[in-house]
Amino acid sequence: MGKSRIVYRCTECGSATPKWGGRCGVCEAWNSLVEEAAVEPSLQPPTGPSSPAMPIGQVDAQFAQPHTTGIPELDRVLGGGLVPGSVTLLGGEPGIGKSTLLLQLLARWPQRTLYVSAEESAQQVRLRAERLDAVRPELWLLPETSLPHIVSTIDQIQPQLVVIDSIQTIADPALPSAPGSVVQVRGCAHRLVAEAKRRDLPVLMVGHVTKEGGLAGPRVLEHIVDTVLSFEGDRHHSLRLLRATKHRFGPTNELGVFAMEGEGLVGVPDASSLFLTDRRTGVPGSAITPTLEGQRPLLVEVQALTNKVHATGVPPRRSAQGLDGGRLALLLAVLERRARMMMGEFEVFASAVGGVRLTEPGADLALCLALVSALTERPLPPEVVVFGEVGLAGEVRQVAHAERRLAEAARMGFTRAIVPANSPRSTSGMALTRVNSVTEALVAAGLSGRSGS
Ligand code: TYD
Ligand code: MG
Repeated sequence: MGKSRIVYRCTECGSATPKWGGRCGVCEAWNSLVEEAAVEPSLQPPTGPSSPAMPIGQVDAQFAQPHTTGIPELDRVLGGGLVPGSVTLLGGEPGIGKSTLLLQLLARWPQRTLYVSAEESAQQVRLRAERLDAVRPELWLLPETSLPHIVSTIDQIQPQLVVIDSIQTIADPALPSAPGSVVQVRGCAHRLVAEAKRRDLPVLMVGHVTKEGGLAGPRVLEHIVDTVLSFEGDRHHSLRLLRATKHRFGPTNELGVFAMEGEGLVGVPDASSLFLTDRRTGVPGSAITPTLEGQRPLLVEVQALTNKVHATGVPPRRSAQGLDGGRLALLLAVLERRARMMMGEFEVFASAVGGVRLTEPGADLALCLALVSALTERPLPPEVVVFGEVGLAGEVRQVAHAERRLAEAARMGFTRAIVPANSPRSTSGMALTRVNSVTEALVAAGLSGRSGS
């Protein structure tokens, strides 16, 4: 072991500093510095195999071809599947479905696989596997937290795919730090990366993201692994979204959509219809927008509710779910100043339906129309979709991929779209109403300029 010099390590970004402070000087996270014994550089595990230099043309690219995972929504995000020797980190809040997804993946893999369960007992995993129809002869299970044991088991049973669930709960006794510390998490990850590269073995590791930051955050690991996937969703909804935030073997802008069902995660190839299933037409305060998640168009319903409050002196509530609260405040101000929609005495609630997060500005105009529709108690025409970015002057700005958005809306049976004035021509068959400003959009949607009439 190295000399016991002490450093303070940030659990968020992994940087070390000799002096303790309330805030990390590198990533500026608060209360993230924890004490640890410094490791001498000679003890740092190697980051990968050493190999000779060669002309780039002689490199065998064939070898880095992805192997399908048997789960189309996962393949979509990975750009085809898992590459031999690649290390993937799957991050997400506890209970979101990481273990479920990975067990389903292992069960479909054509060769021998190993599931290292460092959190749940073998019995628990077996019960879950039964539910998921994942009790297969080539799926091996190892309830273990010690890294050396895990590596020797890999040597012994020679799996072709390994899952570590989770990286925060395994530890290497050779490292001078407690399990779950940054040194352990990073040291174990380094070792697993080296083992993966040495054997051309794809490895997936689960990384918990906790709001409290009690465990070493997966951000520490982002630099070490090839791919970082994040699994998101609202635990109260069945919808789960999978995205790549880093991917060395392909694009990072694809979206995978799953629903958590009784028998595990089920891919949702037609996500738009999922989002629209519970939609009621003819109700005020609702607008449909075709949004783009990576390359994938999705139709999402934006809802708003306004409620007159009588209390004085207290600013009325503004609440945004699945939408950015700052964006909501900005659009409310634009509606007041540019379209004379007085919202000052109203509580405002706005949400993107179905547990999805709408972050792109293309959803601005739909939110504006949903707000005014709620305020005026007039529904939007049911056949209409809306998109466009709204500027501070109340102008409606063009957004990318208008044609793809329109094609998706047409596919879902919509016939008319309110779009930015300078959107390109469309072959989607949709009737386009081009608008320059929010006020023009209100007229186009049949919500006149005056409220409450
Ligand atoms: P899990 O995969 O354990 O989450 P994580 O590994 O990210 O912590 O999933 C936990 C939740 O998923 C749990 O609340 C129960 C639910 N679930 C289902 O709804 N259906 C299923 O078939 C399974 C296995 C779990
Ligand atoms: Mg789990």
